Amino acid sequence: MNKFKKIGVLTSGGDAPGMNAAVRAVTRTALAHGVEVVAIYRGYSGLIQNDVKAINVRDVSNVLNKGGTVLYSDRCPEFKTEVGMQKAIATCRELGIDGIVAIGGDGTFRGATDLTLRGIPCIGIPATIDNDITSTDNTIGFDTAMNTTLNMIDCLRDTCESHARCNVIEVMGRNAGDLAAYTALASGATAVVIAELPVDEEKILTKIRTSRALGKRNFIVVVSEGMGTDFGPALTERIEKETGVEARFARFAHVVRGGTPTLRDRMLATRMGEYAVERLLEGLSNIVICERAGELTYTDIGFALIVDRMYKDKLKDGDLDTFTKEQLEEMKEICEKKKSLITRICASVDKISL
Ligand code: ADP
Ligand code: F6P
Repeated sequence: MNKFKKIGVLTSGGDAPGMNAAVRAVTRTALAHGVEVVAIYRGYSGLIQNDVKAINVRDVSNVLNKGGTVLYSDRCPEFKTEVGMQKAIATCRELGIDGIVAIGGDGTFRGATDLTLRGIPCIGIPATIDNDITSTDNTIGFDTAMNTTLNMIDCLRDTCESHARCNVIEVMGRNAGDLAAYTALASGATAVVIAELPVDEEKILTKIRTSRALGKRNFIVVVSEGMGTDFGPALTERIEKETGVEARFARFAHVVRGGTPTLRDRMLATRMGEYAVERLLEGLSNIVICERAGELTYTDIGFALIVDRMYKDKLKDGDLDTFTKEQLEEMKEICEKKKSLITRICASVDKISL
């Protein structure tokens, strides 16, 4: 017998295609276990402002295939304050919300930990197009964003081929180069630049010059958002000036955050939503659901956040103090695996896209 009578579900931070599929799975799994569900609108803002609604099976009909989030999202700075947090707790107490499934990125998980520590057990589901939650192989929304980006690069390739041009394309991802690296390889880009790896602009220029001399007409160079806003336009200018190949710059920005979720994202979201509720009802909390080698598992939110810092080389003094030797080994292994994968993907772009 589980102790839960009513749970809340929310989406927070940047939206991601597949969030709705997760909301649907969370709702229907909870209802199937006889647990009531409350939709919390606009992320933690809705919790603070009591913007909530009890939902039933039919309330999540026809959302599986929709991009964005039907629960809406918000960045809510007030939630980071003790006053905001207490308002959120008060809403939970007033409505009898015994637990929450929070769908979002690392910021969302920090909020989930704060709520758990104050007596509202929460579980996080990773959803962000950035794929920057290191402890899971894939986040919800990443696959759709990759496919949307890929389609858009293919369109640019058509016009680049017609005009014998180069297009430098900046893709989102905040500090993570995953979206840039994967789509560069899949689109046959001439080069990819991500903040995680050393940049060699000369090498890119030489490659373009050499390939042009061998008759190549179109060039695509993918740059990750993590390189900063000036990098892409500056590289575009350099390419045109120093290779003689006419160059254009495009920033895809938020457009790749929308659209119909792919099969993979719908599957991942549905499986994670179901799995999250089952773990919550079993009594687990303060965890984030992960997919590793195709299997669902979970890890402590604290562990997940520190793995992210380790991967980004942003560990602070004392960050590792509370973890066991085995946990530290596991963290290192996760980071090395991810770094190795992205390094190999970028190396393949260098080698194969001539
Ligand atoms: P994401 O979840 O995609 O990383 P954000 O970083 O914007 O997006 O975080 C989403 C929301 O989570 C924030 O607007 C805020 O309400 C909450 N949040 C973020 N960081 C914290 C924190 N340190 N403590 C409590 N809540 C936080
Ligand atoms: O985290 C998703 C993301 O789209 C990042 O790729 C990007 O850096 C950021 O959010 C943009 O944030 P905003 O929607 O606030 O402009």
